[in-house]
Amino acid sequence: MRIAFFDTKPYDHLFFDDALRSAGYEATWFEHKLTPDSVGLADGHEAVCVFVNDQVDASVIEGLYERGVRLIALRCAGYNNVDFHAAFGRIHVVRVLGYSPAAVAEHAAAMLLTLNRKTHRAFARTRDFNFSINGLMGFDLEGKTAGIVGTGRIGQILVRILRGFGMRVIAYDPFPAAGSDIEYVPLEQLWRESDVISLHCPLTPDNHHFVDRDAIRLMKPGVILINTSRGALIDTDALLEGLRNRQIGGAGLDVYEEEAEFFFEDKSNDILADERLTLLLAFPNVLLTSHQGFFTREAMQAITETTVDNIRAFEQGAFLENEICYQRMSGGCDRAETRKNCF
Ligand code: NAI
Repeated sequence: MRIAFFDTKPYDHLFFDDALRSAGYEATWFEHKLTPDSVGLADGHEAVCVFVNDQVDASVIEGLYERGVRLIALRCAGYNNVDFHAAFGRIHVVRVLGYSPAAVAEHAAAMLLTLNRKTHRAFARTRDFNFSINGLMGFDLEGKTAGIVGTGRIGQILVRILRGFGMRVIAYDPFPAAGSDIEYVPLEQLWRESDVISLHCPLTPDNHHFVDRDAIRLMKPGVILINTSRGALIDTDALLEGLRNRQIGGAGLDVYEEEAEFFFEDKSNDILADERLTLLLAFPNVLLTSHQGFFTREAMQAITETTVDNIRAFEQGAFLENEICYQRMSGGCDRAETRKNCF
């Protein structure tokens, strides 16, 4: 079994090299992302392993299929970059679910604490022997309201963390967590009542740019908005406007809608071509991290193990537990009960 790994970094080798060797798989490592231009690199491989910013659209899927690829193994949870309708019946798509929800929830909490108490600015000041605290005032989280959008694996852990700070937590999710004591409210009410808002839902065609001008207008002036999910949940132009007119008091962004060209890369010697990203970085109350919410030892270990398990299950023709299949996911299929793959 030969697997082509795309968009790879040195830290991927730290975890995958040994695991692939002991499983008996041969890997080809590409630093390039998978795109329509690079799909030819998949020649001679039965599987490709991709990450969050690889472009697995219908044309790439066609190109992979023509070259004999029959498995796309995502080494991440989100799958908005994969046209899984186009893959259906031709190439199986598997992902890694819940590898370390705590890693992302803790990163969201870190961004909130940093933005609120401005420790990123204090760090820079004291390094320059500037011991002034002017402009560094925050607010007590205790007694304030946090609104969590999406209470799946990550959202539920953040609910626990924020309750630990003494916050009232409200949430919105079209599929509330069964048997939980979370206080669910309509989305409009969450926008209106929250001092802090954190997004933990997948990006779908329905919620693309759902944080838009209208939503921001409803929010409390000075709200802190955290996004560790997917960039395109937020309309960046509306966010910039909200920051300029001070409706948004702070934005913690681990994702950005145009991140694919920049995130995970060292661009420090370039002139950044993305004006909106440059503008965002000019705000003292914007904290941007480069999609590192998942990046802990525990998460990398779990991603590696599940990815190798997913590939092994495919190789053995076993039921693909972690398959992204639009029929199965829309409930129109009993394969999960019969534990058989349909193609
Ligand atoms: P999950 O599948 O456990 O939970 C997602 C929740 O969102 C579900 O409860 C679902 O009902 C809810 N949901 C779906 N559509 C919604 C909508 N329109 N509004 C509100 N809620 C909605 O997913 P998990 O593991 O908690 O991950 C959440 C997201 O975090 C992923 O989709 C991914 O985009 C992002 N992520 C980011 C990482 C990072 O490094 N920054 C790493 C891992 C995931």
